[in-house]
Amino acid sequence: MDLRLDGNAALVTASSSGLGLASATALAREGANVTICGRTEERLGEAKAEIEAVATGDVMARQADVTDPDDVADLVETTVEAYGGLDHVVTSAGGVPPGPFMESTEKEWYGAYDTLVMSVVWTLWEAQPHLVESDAGTVTCITSTSVREAIDGLVLSNAVRRGVVGVVKTVAREFAPEVRANAVLPGAHETARIEELVEAALDRGEYDSYEEGLDDWASDVPLGRIGDPMELGDAVAFLSSDRASFVNGAAVSVDGGRLRS
Ligand SMILES: NC(=O)c1ccc[n+]([C@@H]2O[C@H](COP(=O)([O-])OP(=O)(O)OC[C@H]3O[C@@H](n4cnc5c(N)ncnc54)[C@H](OP(=O)(O)O)[C@@H]3O)[C@@H](O)[C@H]2O)c1
Repeated sequence: MDLRLDGNAALVTASSSGLGLASATALAREGANVTICGRTEERLGEAKAEIEAVATGDVMARQADVTDPDDVADLVETTVEAYGGLDHVVTSAGGVPPGPFMESTEKEWYGAYDTLVMSVVWTLWEAQPHLVESDAGTVTCITSTSVREAIDGLVLSNAVRRGVVGVVKTVAREFAPEVRANAVLPGAHETARIEELVEAALDRGEYDSYEEGLDDWASDVPLGRIGDPMELGDAVAFLSSDRASFVNGAAVSVDGGRLRS
């Protein structure tokens, strides 16, 4: 299926690795000009090269922290200047600290809010005036299946991410009809974030080995495995394309069927 994204301008936040990188790669492979960002210069350079290997359009990599509103404003402005507009915004973010509720701190709660929710709010405040000018405007927010079913040991994600779905549901109405907005809910995908969560559970003594931890993430998935990040990236590219022209305000799980709700 041709997703008809040739020449469109896309900004993907927190995208020098993992699900953001996979989303940027899928959009670039379908012909979009793409801007990626992250905090670490070296990782950004590697990610840019990886995307350029499949891209037909331009790829721009910017050092930016999505918890800094000035960085976010600069990111949007630079993308618009480079590509002459902005058609697609995909928001990802860093992970928030794992751990049980009674061990979470006030600082972690406010930090999680900035990382997961305010990063999206700042991005959309800056991007909306450009998206409504596009004839293909879309917003796709990467969240987690934790917005539907709580995940053990991830209270910050379980509680705070739901705010992003509230934002998506609202802007899907307020930005329409010019712009569609959807959320994707990834289940476990093989990225650095999953490694970090398995390592943390190992440290808490929940598993005897890394392999056991990884198997546990796949154990309740009907497809019998965790996802490849590109399987999430492809879903993001589809939702960004006009092939999904009547999909608006949806929260689409990409989890191999694990969610029961
Ligand atoms: N992987 C999964 O299975 C899964 C499932 C459900 C939900 N999620 C969630 O999806 C999001 C992405 O996960 P992932 O697996 O793709 O993680 P990842 O592989 O660790 O990638 C995170 C990316 O975000 C960048 N980043 C982190 N904090 C940032 C910040 N403040 N400003 C700008 N860039 C930042 C990182 O680069 P720098 O560190 O260099 O900035 C990196 O490029 C996370 O919120 C995660 O919790 C992941």
